Amino acid sequence: MNEIALSLAPAHLRHGSNIGQPLTRRDGILKVTGAAGYAADHHPPGLLHAVLAVSQIARGRVASLDVAAAKAHPGVIEVMTPANRPELAEDPDAKHHPFMFRLDLLQSDSVRYAHQPIAVVIAETLEAATEGAALLAPVYETEAPRTGLDAAESFVPPYVGAGNPAETGIGDVKAALDAAAVRVEATYETPAQYHNPIEPHAIIAVWDGDRLTVDTPSQGMAMAQGRIAGLLGIPPENILIRSPFLGGGFGCKGMIAGPQILGIMAARLVGRPVKLVLRREQMFGPVGHRAATRQTLRLGAAADGRLGAIDHHTRTATSTFDDFIESASDASHTLYASAAIHTAHEAVRVNTGTPIFMRAPGEATGSIALESAIDEMAAACGMDPLAFRLKNYAEVEPISGKPFSSKALHACYQQGAERFGWARRQLAPGVTRDEAGLLVGWGVGTATFPAMMFQAHARATIRRDGGGVVEIGAHDMGQGAWTALAQIAADGIGLDIDQVEFRSGSSDLPDAGIAGGSAHTATAGGAIDAAGAEVIARLAALATSDQRSPLFGAGNAGVIARGGRLIRRDDETRGESYGEILTRAGLAEISGAGSTAANQAAQETYAMHAHGAVFAEVKVDPELGQIRVTRLVGAFAAGRIINPRMVRSQYYGGMIWGVSFALHEHAVMDPHSGRPMNANFAGYHVPVNADIPSLEAILVEEHDPHVNALGIKGVGEIAITGTAGAVANAVWHATGRRVRHFPIMIDRLI
Ligand code: MOS
Repeated sequence: MNEIALSLAPAHLRHGSNIGQPLTRRDGILKVTGAAGYAADHHPPGLLHAVLAVSQIARGRVASLDVAAAKAHPGVIEVMTPANRPELAEDPDAKHHPFMFRLDLLQSDSVRYAHQPIAVVIAETLEAATEGAALLAPVYETEAPRTGLDAAESFVPPYVGAGNPAETGIGDVKAALDAAAVRVEATYETPAQYHNPIEPHAIIAVWDGDRLTVDTPSQGMAMAQGRIAGLLGIPPENILIRSPFLGGGFGCKGMIAGPQILGIMAARLVGRPVKLVLRREQMFGPVGHRAATRQTLRLGAAADGRLGAIDHHTRTATSTFDDFIESASDASHTLYASAAIHTAHEAVRVNTGTPIFMRAPGEATGSIALESAIDEMAAACGMDPLAFRLKNYAEVEPISGKPFSSKALHACYQQGAERFGWARRQLAPGVTRDEAGLLVGWGVGTATFPAMMFQAHARATIRRDGGGVVEIGAHDMGQGAWTALAQIAADGIGLDIDQVEFRSGSSDLPDAGIAGGSAHTATAGGAIDAAGAEVIARLAALATSDQRSPLFGAGNAGVIARGGRLIRRDDETRGESYGEILTRAGLAEISGAGSTAANQAAQETYAMHAHGAVFAEVKVDPELGQIRVTRLVGAFAAGRIINPRMVRSQYYGGMIWGVSFALHEHAVMDPHSGRPMNANFAGYHVPVNADIPSLEAILVEEHDPHVNALGIKGVGEIAITGTAGAVANAVWHATGRRVRHFPIMIDRLI
């Protein structure tokens, strides 16, 4: 535990106390000095290195592998193949619930996608394992792969995303479209994107009999524990997962991936600790991706610009052997008021790994098409695109009819527009130029993301020395959980943050659920807050029932915890320190447990979403078609802000990904071989500093008492959703050209 608990030394900058303060990351110094131990940094004694061999074909079978040649290499200990892999307790192709993804664990010689693991070479050194893998010289029987959205007949999936219906709506869309004075119909294409956090999936697996310790990055340790237990046939409590630091997650580390399980199997096979780290190109296959989509939007409006019909159809892709369906059309469920809405999805099976959650899954892809179509409709109505949105945004969630915090959305539009200077925008496209002759365009996009809550548990302890310990198996992907959750913890037990030891990132701590769905601060924070309340209540019971205490008779409700003291609510001069109470009671410490979950009654009554508006300026070279984003202003309302510095940083990250979605990022699959042609950071473009202008994120004040006890909404994903559309709309405003194929590249502009 000691090696991953953060020191009490305040390495972070202080600007005040606890919730609401812009503390710098408490683990920042550890990270920038290299002292933070990421999974692959560990070197237990006797460590062996494992290297994946992955398929160079996308469909067929592995006819032979030269295992003898690999084993003859000095340093190679073992080659794990379908012939000798350890027995599994569960079929890797079994699927009992939507979050159980089928894994490739060498269960057969068949190949279902490029970069599928086909063997694992285990050696004394990384070099020997790498050379051993190269000596395997696989011979394949190749079949023609299916690639692209037209590769096969489509099917209607049983559900999309994490379990939403594939088709839903209200009203009669066909009649509403027929009756509309203004109609827009357009089809948009978004590309496949592959998960590429800075830190690839890595694992160090150490077996001790039937007990297993793994160092591996995880956004959901308890779920990973359960998955490993099921596959390896050991009780979950025999598995310790340590995941204190992640070099990014974005959804690909939510469910444990196949290569991580292969590392565990390799360690079992050789009876020694094994390290397995994916090479960058191996991220393009077995660890999930965002699937490509083709989305058709049909909108209808009255002559005065009031929307009356939204029809949003998505065709997307999943793997040949499992289902994850990008729920892009669901973006049209919440944002714009329309009496008739229809959303539907269909999918095709292609030879790729199975897609998975990627930052704002569904909303990111869907909002690009929706925001582009809304912009086209505004233009068709002759209206300013912001004025059109102000006229049509929903004040109640259109399909469910539940009210939500639409006042906050209005404030985002207003504050963002004012900061950006939107009022000076020329209505007509293609007419604004800067002093250098570049075409200038301004665009807007609406951002939204659901405010979700999962289940979590936490434990809080107050010690006789006046310090506190708060424990929760939470996950810091880099978003700042070590800091924001510790701020909640400190306020929860009435201490300063530097007096609280915050233990996190390990599976032997209370289950914090998954760091996903932008719900971790609300969920884990809620459990921490509840645990704090429980330990304070116990401490107060000790004091108020003891005649020797100045708090005697005050009753729990009449006592507050602040600054390491309990004090009477009605007379703040009367109180005593935690240490005094525990000393008199003869206790070294006192603990309380707390849990949180979604408030069902509130969820049935209210729609819960964070909102935002993003304003983008682009400049386009009229001869070369080169596009630069020159300004981005986002305004977001996400309930209570625990740490404005971390939150702003999440908004910046989302906005940068939005730029990437609009202009840079796409996986290129060779239609003949089915292989990703740009499985590296030279060819898979993500924005660099030079691509990103100065960013502004406005934190719009919002108090939403319904979402959860602390009033927290998520901030991790929302900022992609408005940004990509805003950039695309700005490109249209600059050039008069509506590019509906993403990313928008030069060849589509000239
Ligand atoms: Mo996120 S895609 O819920 O990690």
